[in-house]
Amino acid sequence: MLPTFSSKAFLAPMAGVSDPALRLQCKKMGAGLVVTEFTNIHSIIAKEKQLKEHMKTIQEFIEFSDQERPLSIQLFGSDLFALEKAAKIVEPYFDIIDYNMGCPAPHITQQMAGGALLQQTNLTEQIFETLVNAVKKPVTLKIRSGVTDASRFLFRDIAEIAEDQGIQMITFHPRTVNQGYSGNADWKLIKELKEISGIPIVGNGDITTPEDAKKMIDETNCDYVMIGRGAMGNPFLFEQINDYLKTNSYQEYSFKDRLDSFFDYLHLTSKYKIKFANLKGQAMRFTKGMKGGSKVRAKITFTTNIEELEKIMKNAYLTS
Ligand SMILES: Cc1cc2nc3c(=O)[nH]c(=O)nc-3n(C[C@H](O)[C@H](O)[C@H](O)COP(=O)(O)O)c2cc1C
Repeated sequence: MLPTFSSKAFLAPMAGVSDPALRLQCKKMGAGLVVTEFTNIHSIIAKEKQLKEHMKTIQEFIEFSDQERPLSIQLFGSDLFALEKAAKIVEPYFDIIDYNMGCPAPHITQQMAGGALLQQTNLTEQIFETLVNAVKKPVTLKIRSGVTDASRFLFRDIAEIAEDQGIQMITFHPRTVNQGYSGNADWKLIKELKEISGIPIVGNGDITTPEDAKKMIDETNCDYVMIGRGAMGNPFLFEQINDYLKTNSYQEYSFKDRLDSFFDYLHLTSKYKIKFANLKGQAMRFTKGMKGGSKVRAKITFTTNIEELEKIMKNAYLTS
């Protein structure tokens, strides 16, 4: 059974972005569910073997904290044997196992994973069956609408197979794989999926404001919304969405508040092994839209350690 979610707004899995510090920050700001970055099933198996030799667990590889719960781990990869093994390794640590069938990146689709699987109904059925039988935790799915414009309704068959095989919730980003992030997410398709499905649907794509979140729920009747790019460098969005859905109003935050929240983020990162390049990326996002932000970002590019980064962000704070 799915856990109870404290809010309708979820944080999207984002490689290089939704690290354990940002997830925790979004959780504290009111995200109902947070999801790890997608994780290769073969890497999980290889890492677990290495870690076991040193009496360590997979938690050293996929870092998280209990405060993030309910916490979902996203897997990718279509080798059924590896999938079963990886799912069993991670099951004790996570509340939901999510499966990625949306990633458009060629290095993923070329290995018959991510969005490429949308056109492989037989393999997809076996994947869902394998996952659902491998673990007792709920298994969920994240999909795009199709691969090409002509195949943009593939989601209909995939969703039906998923439900038949015991998948408990579907997150739907209604763009095709070929679209990448161009054009708009076609929210009408979320409405259609919600109408034909008997399991909860999480609508995803192009939500950047509380008004967008309410609009998606009103227009599509989806059960939850998931926010990716709109939450990058802006964890306040979850609190704002929750307030807006309840009271039709929300508190605005200044850039000083946003920079303050970057320092909270940086403080949280000290507990984890997050790559410095990712921290720089986060710093850039927290300055997005800020007056003089492009100059700050140019300086961030040249930083080589946390002290330098902190100095630049403190200066930005003082002049914002
Ligand atoms: C930098 C970045 C990394 C992403 N990584 C993942 C991922 O690991 N797994 C996944 O299912 N989707 C991933 N996505 C897609 C998002 O989860 C989401 O579906 C997409 O960004 C659309 O939502 P948005 O308009 O709210 O950003 C990523 C998106 C971005 C921008």
